[in-house]
Amino acid sequence: MKSLTVVKFGGSLTKNPEAQSKFLKELAGISRKQNIILVHGGGPEINSLLNKFSIESKFVSGLRFTDAPALDVVEMALSGKVNRALVTGLIKNKANAVGISGKDGNSVVCKQVKSLGFVGEPVKVNGKLIEVLTKAGFLPVIASIAADAKGNVMNVNADTLATAIAVAFKADKLVFLTDVAGVLDKNKKTIKEIKVKNIEPLIKDETITGGMIPKVKGCAVSVKKGVKEVWIADGVSGIKNIKGTVIKK
Ligand SMILES: Nc1ncnc2c1ncn2[C@@H]1O[C@H](COP(=O)(O)OP(=O)(O)OP(=O)(O)O)[C@@H](O)[C@H]1O
Ligand SMILES: [Mg+2]
Repeated sequence: MKSLTVVKFGGSLTKNPEAQSKFLKELAGISRKQNIILVHGGGPEINSLLNKFSIESKFVSGLRFTDAPALDVVEMALSGKVNRALVTGLIKNKANAVGISGKDGNSVVCKQVKSLGFVGEPVKVNGKLIEVLTKAGFLPVIASIAADAKGNVMNVNADTLATAIAVAFKADKLVFLTDVAGVLDKNKKTIKEIKVKNIEPLIKDETITGGMIPKVKGCAVSVKKGVKEVWIADGVSGIKNIKGTVIKK
């Protein structure tokens, strides 16, 4: 059986077109030998579209507050722009990429986190559609949107979505690619390895803040639930020549 790697491509990397195209070329190559599920965010694209619509961007502990008008824009940015661009880049490199979101095929069912507006927390993964795609040799590219049990659309943090998918599919490896070389200490140096029990203290003493919080929390959950290899790594270096932080039990 082929191994499965879930890759979360940070929206933060879409600001770096060179890194993005280098990564997509590398991923297309890897996808010929391994099963890959690609999950992506879209922070900068969302911010820039919200700006065009004169809607303010608000964050609570690294998670985006999403009201109804913002939700429309979030979906437009993620499924309409970032997802399309990633699929285009992959098919240019001869990968059988198919763009979906967590909503498609009810792949990820979420529960609303009311304090954040139309933001969902994954509660169930229905693996059918993603499984059908991977088994048939397609590379699913998943935008971080999902629906709740009643079909209400929600914005889901892409790190949290990637974690839910990696756990549900018992992935061999989960890699969060972002715009920094892993988790940095207070002197901005990469922490090479972090044990799950040391994550909370690093959040408490504010070494880890903002968008890094859902990532390390996702790492903790996935390591505890059996994903064998978990990384937060530099999107510029990519996967084969990985540079970043490995999270261990
Ligand atoms: N200790 C830390 N080490 C590294 N980065 C940190 C740390 N604490 C906070 N950060 C911030 O986390 C950011 C990465 O998270 P961010 O959500 O911005 O990007 P992303 O998840 O790759 O993109 P997206 O959310 O659009 O998918 C870094 O650019 C950095 O500013
Ligand atoms: Mg993020």
